[in-house]
Formats: sequence, C-alpha cells, structure tokens
Amino acid sequence: MWIPLVSAAEVPSGGIVAVDLEDRQLVVWRTATGRAAVCDARCPHQWSHLEAEGVVDGDELVCTAHFWRFDAEGHGTKRNVLGRRDEKSAVETFSSREEAGMVEVDWPRSNPPGAGTGGPGSIVVRATGAGPDDRRPQPRI
Ligand code: FES
Repeated sequence: MWIPLVSAAEVPSGGIVAVDLEDRQLVVWRTATGRAAVCDARCPHQWSHLEAEGVVDGDELVCTAHFWRFDAEGHGTKRNVLGRRDEKSAVETFSSREEAGMVEVDWPRSNPPGAGTGGPGSIVVRATGAGPDDRRPQPRI
C-alpha cells in the first residue's frame, strides 16, 4: 500500500525530513543526485536520530555521531581516513516512489481497519521535524 509521506519539494537534494508512520520513526532523504529514499530514523549503531544527526554526503546518508554511512538501500559502511570502507550494520529501508508531487512509501499495512488514532481504516502520517525529543543526547564512545 503506497502511503504519501511528504511533499517532494520538502526534500530537496541533500534534505532529510523526519516522519512518523504508525508507530515507526522514519526519515525521508534525498541523495545529491536526486533520488528520494525512506529508511528507519534511528541509526543502527547507537540509535541517533538521522534527521537530527544525519547529513547527506553524495548518495549516502551519514550519521555524524560516529560517521556510519548508509546508501539508499540501507547498506552500512564506515570510511576510515585512508578511504577504506568497513562493513557496518544496515539501516532498514522501505521502497519509495514519487507520485503527484509526493514521496510515497510502500508500507505493509500492519493495523486492521479501525485501528490506530486516525479513525476507521486510517494510517496516521505525521511530519515530525527534529524537535527537542529527537535531539536527545546520544551516548558517545
Ligand atoms: S549512532 Fe550513528 S554512527 Fe553511531
């Protein structure tokens, strides 16, 4: 089921927008070459929020907490100062497309009709922005 998340104009190249969909925290981001992608908002390393702590570098989303990098398919790596890439955990990604000016996600409908907070059969999408709760300090190592 395709669910519109945000206006495509809200996510320019290099942009990252936080969205809650049902009980999941997601980010919609766009590569430097213009591809929109949707992934879990939390870095698989130490759970930093990827809108608050993330930056787009080329075609990768970089978590600036410890510089793990994720491509649009979620593949995780870390690049050392010599350019070597070490494999890291992946971030969960979701299929996305742009339709009628919106970035949409292919979302497996998890709630039966009538569940959730938006009324019968609805799925709640909420653009969250990186508010104070999303900028909680993360443990550093
Ligand atoms: S929390 Fe993201 S790289 Fe460590």
